[in-house]
Parts: sequence; structure tokens; C-alpha cells
Amino acid sequence: MDPVRNPFAPGAGQRPPELAGRDRELSAFEVVLERVARGRPERSLVLTGLRGVGKTVLLGELRSMALRRGWGTGKVEARPEVGLRRPVAMALHRAVRDLAVRHRAPDRVDAVLGVLKAFALRANADGARLRDRWQPGIDVPAARGRADSGDMEIDLVELFTDVADLAADVGTGVALLVDEMQDVRPEDVSALCAACHELAQSGAPLVVVGAGLPHLPAVLSASKSYSERLFRYVAVDRLTRSAHDRAVTAPVGREGVEITPGAVEALFEASGGYPYFVQAYGKATWDAAPTNPITAEDVAVAAPEADAELAVGFFGSRYERATPAEREYLVAMAELTEGRDEAVATAGVAERLGRRPSSLSPARDSLLKKGLVFSAERGRIAFTVPHFGRFLLRA
Ligand SMILES: Nc1ncnc2c1ncn2[C@@H]1O[C@H](COP(=O)(O)OP(=O)(O)OP(=O)(O)O)[C@@H](O)[C@H]1O
Ligand SMILES: [Mg+2]
Repeated sequence: MDPVRNPFAPGAGQRPPELAGRDRELSAFEVVLERVARGRPERSLVLTGLRGVGKTVLLGELRSMALRRGWGTGKVEARPEVGLRRPVAMALHRAVRDLAVRHRAPDRVDAVLGVLKAFALRANADGARLRDRWQPGIDVPAARGRADSGDMEIDLVELFTDVADLAADVGTGVALLVDEMQDVRPEDVSALCAACHELAQSGAPLVVVGAGLPHLPAVLSASKSYSERLFRYVAVDRLTRSAHDRAVTAPVGREGVEITPGAVEALFEASGGYPYFVQAYGKATWDAAPTNPITAEDVAVAAPEADAELAVGFFGSRYERATPAEREYLVAMAELTEGRDEAVATAGVAERLGRRPSSLSPARDSLLKKGLVFSAERGRIAFTVPHFGRFLLRA
């Protein structure tokens, strides 16, 4: 088929041609938006799942839903070791600009921008080196004595309250989206949870919507025991067979091309329903198909090409981040699971490698930090990347 018209979109955060199988998540957020705007108590959503299941895409979709209702929105992508103050300031600046369009009192907007600037400039005081002092692009004078104490929790509560009030003026709310939430520094996680808790109690229309790896709920509850009452955890998983079929057939059909049931079946076999793989195998198959309709044979021809591309881009880029000792650890995990996406006992890994568990702690901790593995349960460990074990056994 004509590669120019290829509808599939493998790639981090790439909007898929068909957002299949996410109706439950979308309608849950519909309820959150409605209730929060009315000042009703409501838990916000936190999306969790493995690499490439579509968390970022879903977060983007939730953001669009909020925007369509006239909400102010902003997004943060957390990074390890980076403080939350600047990214949050930038995201809420964005949200205030969304709201300013509908707001009737420019001086109220400016007052909130002044507080936002004060909050942002505190990032410099918090130890940014002189040469990368940061100038938030906000052209009102910074306020004084609000959101600038340096105590993240107090400052977030004050800033959130003011931005939420601005949204309440126009009858909507504010959504702050936090991607890669497991990477938020511990002190910031605790401040963020506390601020959400405080805002929820006052009924202010601001929600934090998170997304992250499967151990994110453990990270949040280790920080604040009440986090389970604050967030509704939604596991974003591989697509069911019927959602997968829609993800494949709808975009192909829109291009006026047909695909045989055998080809759809073969694509499901190859991808396991994991969204990233659905896009990758779909794309390669489209390109490999010489004529309409697309057949199972086209999938068979395309699969090795897609595998090769995934081996470099999706798996390889991650494998390369591991040191030799860490790679040994990963391979032992893969052997124990025989390439399935399952958790293994860390004690089992040590036994397999013929080492004392304590001597493997550095490798394991480093893999956890690099986000290649996660531990959702004490003493057990799993790959964050689906099919990673299978990739290691093949390589
Ligand atoms: N519901 C869906 N149906 C079909 N394809 C999807 C769906 N959701 C996401 N995708 C595709 O899956 C791929 C990965 O999506 P995304 O980057 O959002 O995953 P992620 O969970 O954020 O991954 P990571 O943990 O690596 O950040 C993209 O190519 C996207 O187009
Ligand atoms: Mg993502």
C-alpha cells in the first residue's frame, strides 16, 4: 500500500489513528470533570501501566476533553532529580492563558499571574545556579507573600487555590496533567498530594491527573497514606481482542483498504494487543502489502521488519542504558520468566546467577532508577517494557 497514506503511528505519545478500548477511562473522566466543576468531592484519576500501553496518549485525550469544556489545562512531564516548581509554573501559566480568553476581568487574571510569577521565581531562590536563572515569560510584576514561601506544600496550595478560583469565575475548572509521575521527587510528591488533599476539601475546581508506571500507586501511598482516597487508579492495559480489531480495521477502512480476518488475527498474535506494537506491526504490514486486501501473508512478511525496528528503537535504546552487570540481571529475569511478561522473585534471580541477593542490590536498584524494571510487590520484580524478556532471549 502507498506508504504516504499509511495511517499507523508508532511512537511515544503519538496520537493513534483510532483510540480503541479506552471508553471506560474516558467516561470516568467525564464524571470527574462534571463533579469537580460543580464543587462536588471527587477523586481524580491516575493512569498506570507498562511502557507503550498508551498512557501519554490517553492523558492528552483527557486534556482535550477538559479543554472542550472550557477548562484551563497544563501538562508536566516529571523527570528524576528535577524539581517540580518550574514545570508546574509553566503548566499553570498555560492553564491561566486558556482561562483568560473567557474571563471578563483582566485585573483578576493579572493578579493570579503575579502569584504564579512569585511561585515560579522561587525556583531561582531554591538553588538554581546563577547562570541558568530562569525568567518566566510573565509580564506582570511578581506578587509578594503568596505562593513564594519556599515551602512547596504551602506554595502549591496557595497557587492552586488562586488558579482554581479564576476557573470558578467562569464556571469551569483546572486540570494539571502529570506524566511520568513516578519520577516526581519524593519531597514534591508529598507536597503535591497534600495540596490536592487540601484543594479537594475546599471544593476548589482543580484536579491533578497523573500517569506513570505500575508501581506509581506504591510511590504515592508511601508518601501519603491517604493517597488512595485522593486518586482513582486506572490500570491502562493491552487492548482486548475486540478493541485491537477496531484499532486495526478502522484506520485501514478509512483509507478505503480492506484487511482479511486472518491478517487481523496474525497482527493480534504479533502485538499481543500492546498498543505500541499494534501500531508498529500495523505500519510495517501496510507498507509490505502489495495489493488490496491486506492478508495474513503480508503480516508474515512484515513482522521480521517490524521486529528489527522494535529491536533497535523500542528495546535496544533501553537495553543500552544498562551496564554489563545490569544486563546480566535482566537476562536472568528473562530466563526465569521464559520470556513472559511476569514478575519474578528477586531471590530467584540471585539463585539463578549463583550470587548472594545483597551483592545484586546495586544492579537492581540502578535498574529501578533507570525505569527498566519495577517492583509493585515486595521481593518481586518485573520489566516495565512489555515483551522485553522475549526480546532478550532472542537477542
Ligand atoms: N488506545 C489505543 N489504540 C491504539 N493505539 C494506541 C492506543 N493508545 C496508544 N496507542 C499507540 O501506542 C503507542 C504508545 O503510546 P504512548 O506513548 O501514549 O504510551 P505510554 O504508555 O505513554 O508509553 P511510555 O510509558 O513509554 O511513555 C503510540 O504509538 C500510540 O499511537
Ligand atoms: Mg508516555
